[in-house]
Parts: sequence; C-alpha cells; structure tokens
Amino acid sequence: MKPVIYITRKIPETILQPYQDAFEFRMWEKENEPVPRDVLLREITSVDGVFCLLSEKVDREFLDAASNLKIVANMAVGYDNIDVEEAHNRGVTVTNTPDVLTETTADLTFGLMMATARRMVEASDYIRDGNWKYWSPYLLAGSDIHHKTIGIVGMGRIGEAVARRAKGFGMSILYHTRTRKEEAEQELGAVHRGFTELLHEADFVVSLVPLNNETAKMFNEEAFKHMKSSAIFVNASRGGVVDEDALVEALTVNEIQGAGLDVFANEPISPEHPLVGLDNVVCLPHIGSASADTRTKMIELCLDNLRAVLSGKDAITPVR
Ligand code: DGY
Repeated sequence: MKPVIYITRKIPETILQPYQDAFEFRMWEKENEPVPRDVLLREITSVDGVFCLLSEKVDREFLDAASNLKIVANMAVGYDNIDVEEAHNRGVTVTNTPDVLTETTADLTFGLMMATARRMVEASDYIRDGNWKYWSPYLLAGSDIHHKTIGIVGMGRIGEAVARRAKGFGMSILYHTRTRKEEAEQELGAVHRGFTELLHEADFVVSLVPLNNETAKMFNEEAFKHMKSSAIFVNASRGGVVDEDALVEALTVNEIQGAGLDVFANEPISPEHPLVGLDNVVCLPHIGSASADTRTKMIELCLDNLRAVLSGKDAITPVR
C-alpha cells in the first residue's frame, strides 16, 4: 500500500503528476483559502505525511490528531508555525524549504527597501488618484539608497543574499547575528555590530531574523528610539519580531522615517490596521518568495522530502 499524504492547499496536478507512484494524495481543494481547522484535524487522522503552509499551526492538538504521522513538510523556510520539539519527541520529521527561495526573497526584500525609500507606491497612487499636474523639484522626493548604510539583523542565507545586492549599490554593510560570519565579512566587507550599535548607525534596518523566544518583539519601543530619525525599517522575516504598536508610534511621531513590511503579527493584516493607513509605510501581503518559479521549487522540495522520508530515506532539508 502506498503511504497517504494530506496537502493543506490545492496545488497544480501537473506538479503532483511525477509523484503519483510514491503516495496517495488527499488535498484541500481551494487554492486561496486555508483548510478549516476542524476539517484539517479530521483529514490527518490516519495519514503518513502532511504537506502544510505557514498558515497551519502544527501543535500538540494537530500531532494528537495525526497518530500515524511520520513527516510534516512545511512549505516555507521559517517554521515558527510548528512545535518542532514536540514533533521530534513523537518521532515526526519536520522539513522546510531553505535555499530554493533565498535569491527570490532577497530580491523582494531589497525591492521593498527601495520602494519605501523612493516612495514608489505613493508615487504610483499619486498618478492613479489624478494628482500629477506638474513636475516639481521636490515632488515625492525620497531617500537615496546607494552609498548608504544597511544594517541586516539576522545574517542567514537570505541576509547574505541581501548584502550582496547592497554591495552592488555601494552600500556599507553592517550585520547582527549571534555568531560572526567570517566569509561574509571577507567577501562583502560586512561588519559585525551589536544590536543597539547597528540600530544607531544604519540608514536601513532590515529584519531577516527567524521568530523564536529570543527574537519575539525585539524591534520594540526602545529599538525604534535607537534608530536614526531618517532610518527606514524593513521587515521580511516574521511580524512577531516587531512590537507593531511601538512601530506605529515611531512612524507617527517621526522617530523613524518609514517602514517596508512584508510580514505582520497577524496575517492577513486588516486594511483598517493603523500601519496600513500610514503614508510612510509600504505593506505587502507576505510575498517574499512569491515568484512562480520559486513557489514551484518550494512545492517540489516538500514533495521530495515527503517521498524520501516515506520511503525510509533521510529527509533532504530536515529542521534540526
Ligand atoms: C518563508 O519561507 O518562511 C517565507 O516567509 C514564505 O515564503
């Protein structure tokens, strides 16, 4: 008998086709809507593997419901939606999708930084709203990016890919991580800084840290006070690393100049949320890795991980 897997969102048949021999699939049939929790808990009772998205919470309740489970393949590099320790205690392998999304996410992060600094969304709305009557010397004038200082908090693979882009723009590169990255220092001229020092010196503070107990709300009132009043804050990691009330306050009283946000504490963020209404904020709906090619590679990596583990092999990209 083939192992059974449950896929928590509709994915194209053409991608599933090559895996038909490896498993029997069950799948939530909607592409743009998450599977309701009660349906999910019912569907996973006897499956061997689950392919899930970051919108699914894999907690004790989930693991209790899936008593036959051997692997959870998460379609994201981040895995803060999964209680990894509990899964491992029960002998369930957890996998994520590193590497395949690095460059795509770095593109978006750098683009979001540029869009915020150069007020691109506001400028596009300016035309759409019929406001463009004249060219003027300071019309929608923003901040330069080239030759400024970028401060990357969380220098993993994506952080380094953002740093490479920054180097091309002649930027000075500061970074903050627990352990120094000597290769990045040599190749990119990146300089390690303490968190507070980095906040003081950077023109662009870019968050790429994973969300965990140590990083939750690390960008808080105090952190924003340490930043330059001309600083632009960019978050492409997880909304939970930011105290959003403190960010709204910092943006409203011009303690910092602007923010580019691809992630939020609660997603999807309500259009009524104060962050969404601020002119000096660019908001995106968590699209860091969203190029069609990369999303396909992420899906394939999940399926490859499921196939490996369910045929008795090692996972390709296990979360340790
Ligand atoms: C991730 O992979 O963790 C992103 O946030 C979603 O692509």
